[in-house]
Amino acid sequence: MKKLSVKEARLAGAIGAAAKVQGWVRTRRDSKGGFSFVEVNDGTCLGNLQVIAPAEIANYESEVKHLTAGCSVTVTGEIVASAGGEQAAELRAESITVHGWAEPETYPLQKKRHSLEKLREWAHLRPRTNAIGAVMRVRHRVSKSIHDFFHEDGFFYVHTPIITASDCEGAGEMFRVTTLDMANPPRDDKGAIDNAKDFFGRPAYLTVSGQLEGEIYASALGKVYTFGPTFRAENSNTSRHLAEFWMVEPEAAFFELTDNIDLAERFLKRIVNDVLADCQEDLALFQQHIDKTVLERLEGLQSGAFTRLPYTEAITLLAGSAEKFEYPVEWGTDLQAEHERWLTEKHFKGPVVLTDYPASIKPFYMFVNEPDTEGRLTVRAMDVLVPGVGEIIGGSQREHRLDMLETRMAEQGLNPADYWWYADLRRYGTVPHAGFGLGLERMVQYVTGMANIRDVIPFPRTPGSAEF
Ligand code: 4AD
Ligand code: MG
Repeated sequence: MKKLSVKEARLAGAIGAAAKVQGWVRTRRDSKGGFSFVEVNDGTCLGNLQVIAPAEIANYESEVKHLTAGCSVTVTGEIVASAGGEQAAELRAESITVHGWAEPETYPLQKKRHSLEKLREWAHLRPRTNAIGAVMRVRHRVSKSIHDFFHEDGFFYVHTPIITASDCEGAGEMFRVTTLDMANPPRDDKGAIDNAKDFFGRPAYLTVSGQLEGEIYASALGKVYTFGPTFRAENSNTSRHLAEFWMVEPEAAFFELTDNIDLAERFLKRIVNDVLADCQEDLALFQQHIDKTVLERLEGLQSGAFTRLPYTEAITLLAGSAEKFEYPVEWGTDLQAEHERWLTEKHFKGPVVLTDYPASIKPFYMFVNEPDTEGRLTVRAMDVLVPGVGEIIGGSQREHRLDMLETRMAEQGLNPADYWWYADLRRYGTVPHAGFGLGLERMVQYVTGMANIRDVIPFPRTPGSAEF
């Protein structure tokens, strides 16, 4: 007898097959005709498999009639055409084995729909809900799409370190990595071991970005990308920030700003294309229950060209708009969420790539342009902003001229001795190069419409949440 997933068993092609299906009960309903309907889900798709359990099953009275949400079962039987309903096929059971019961008095995921906020208290059970299950399947699809895109485009996947001594972004705060002697505890007043030492005698941190190490490999393999967890210690409690998030960072040699923007646009379109093609059932759930504009937004991103706009022009537009912003718009200041929203949602109504930001608000590694007509200094930065999420990608052409890099590091108070290896890349065979970072969670927010970033990562790490 063949084991079928719920996804496979629901297809018309399975009709007639003898099958074994395993999963968790969602609901049970007893019919007057002396049989029961048991809805089983195994996470392979949003929909459940309807199991018809006739009274002839040996444990019908003793077990089947006591099944409740959350119980785990193996069902064997025959796949038959469904009499009605949305699915093509259902399973007529010959045997049902119960692996684990789920006490209905205490199991939290009963029929009643819980708020997403409430579900965050049950990080261990929430993947069994429709919404979080759908998000995590889409998150998987996005991740696969990322690898497919770069592989097919000739990029090599490079694993950059999580523990590092360098601060790539220079702006935020970092987590420090220390060693603890677990066997010799002085303990602090919370009971934690209190004998931290630097990482084998040197300061070390959790990486905020794999970019600098990515540049090393781009200077040898040409086109590379890293895709892994990154960490930011800033204490921001917003719906778009996590302390631990996943970032995808391509880096390419012989690449300039325009190449970089072209790459980012093709990349985002490819991800959206794959999600639209392969996640229809899950997208329909988001469209119905989470965000009525999801499909329109995704189809729009795919079909139109991204607006490309220098920062200076964006400032002119914002300053000239009739909108009353909370934060003033001024050349030289960073854009706030309200400004990003106005540009993407009200003015251009779609993705916007802002380029050439003031040098003073961007990190040391960005390529410095010639001063503009008013003598102001900008860098070849590019931020991709999208409706609903705001900044989804941050990137730039890198400063590949040693003298300019050293000037910028001095301006930002960085110690050149800490970046000797980074300077070496400019000393030996330097080339124009560029790259960007896409926040995976913001991408998943964009394609699902989920309002809070905590609901698109299995275990969100934010100030005050790191239980398990
Ligand atoms: O703009 P950021 O800080 O850029 C960098 O780290 C560059 N070194 C990337 C590069 O050029 N290789 O971050 C890039 C993206 C942001 O656009 C956003 O999508 C995401 O990472 N991001 C966060 N996502 C969740 N929580 C946070 N705290 C985030 N900070 C940045
Ligand atoms: Mg940024």
